[in-house]
Amino acid sequence: MGKSLLILGAQWGDEGKGKITNYFSEKADYVVRYQGGNNAGHTIVFDGKKYALRLIPSGIFNPKIRCVMGNGMVINPRAFFEEIEELQKAGFSCSNLYLSDRAHVLFDHHLELDRLNEEALKEKKIGTTKKGIGPCYTDKVSRIGMRMCDFISDDFPSLYKELLKRKNQEILSFNGTPIDYEKTVKEYSEMAKKIRPYVFDTIALLKEARKAQKNILFEGAQGALLDIDFGSYPYVTSSSVTSGGAISGSGIGLKGIDEVLGIVKAYQTRVGEGAFPTELKNEIGDLLRERGHEYGTVTHRPRRIGYLDLVALKYSIQINGISSICLTLLDVLGGLKEIKVCTSYSYKGEKISTLPASNSVLKECTPNYVSLKGFQEDISKVKTFDELPENAKKYIEFLEKELEIPVSVFSVGPDKYQTIVRKEIF
Ligand code: IMP
Repeated sequence: MGKSLLILGAQWGDEGKGKITNYFSEKADYVVRYQGGNNAGHTIVFDGKKYALRLIPSGIFNPKIRCVMGNGMVINPRAFFEEIEELQKAGFSCSNLYLSDRAHVLFDHHLELDRLNEEALKEKKIGTTKKGIGPCYTDKVSRIGMRMCDFISDDFPSLYKELLKRKNQEILSFNGTPIDYEKTVKEYSEMAKKIRPYVFDTIALLKEARKAQKNILFEGAQGALLDIDFGSYPYVTSSSVTSGGAISGSGIGLKGIDEVLGIVKAYQTRVGEGAFPTELKNEIGDLLRERGHEYGTVTHRPRRIGYLDLVALKYSIQINGISSICLTLLDVLGGLKEIKVCTSYSYKGEKISTLPASNSVLKECTPNYVSLKGFQEDISKVKTFDELPENAKKYIEFLEKELEIPVSVFSVGPDKYQTIVRKEIF
């Protein structure tokens, strides 16, 4: 019987999904991305070398794995080829890449509109990655977007002309510079020709995979708290990041996912704007940022740092149906005297244990902490749970008790080999 595992970020992204997906991909026949675009930055250390994947699934290093880019994704063709070129230079053929004919194409006008939207929002800006993600999904939902199947068809120039006319009006309404059709249609037509060999009916492909009892790994990008429906709206990304998105963004069907592994950083980070109750604007935050190299892979922005927030995490476990946790960057907490964990919020004098819908309410919430003893030892060479210092064990056991699901995997460093599996899940 083939197995399927969904790996997704349970916080605000950057939980270390790339490394963990790459680790589990050894057992996978397929690795599938289902949402987002090149706003994602998945850092993978492979054979001592560091790779930053944005669009391409983390299974790409093994030519035997079929890497699927699902219908829920938005693809900037220029970024797609840049990434392929980089990988090919490093010796990876990328011939194992299958791009959905239903995925949407992200154009220059989306980049321009992302920039203009953010500028117009002024102090209310979202803090996007400026990769055009929101405007591309906006076109998809408005039913005026361009899908891969149309991009590679002979109708592309006329469809693009029509679309650009409309989008240039929007750009002009912001006093932006319209995109030149003649100049861009040539470049895009060439890219469309070049992308054609990668485009497939990936839904049929996944159906075959299931029938042939293949092992399928789904790779989420961003994190559940950035989901368009469930995240801290409006400070979210524009895709369905959560487990529902894995189904609608790949076509696997409701029963196509056996296990959901939530990737949880041992502390909490966030890039961009939006409420963050446990944020540490002090020397502990600065220390964790430096020790954890907490700077954006895509934008290089310093990430905001905080203690682990169990109110948000319990919510994330529920909305995703997370069956177990992979705790990452545990080593970064080494050396702290105490480790605080937020177990509830106080809002206007009342204790609350559920995540408020409103960002302005969440902003007013103050965290109530439980304090645990820190560990001083370097744990980066630990190979089993038993080898961990007592206080690190206690931290994991505390989380399991509070969250009522197991920490089946933990990670003590960026290398693949610094991953400890306590319970087989794939
Ligand atoms: P967008 O996805 O570029 O529209 O950005 C919307 C929000 O999601 C911003 O707060 C970004 O910082 C955040 N975001 C998008 N992609 C990632 C990611 O891969 N990791 C962490 N945050 C992200």
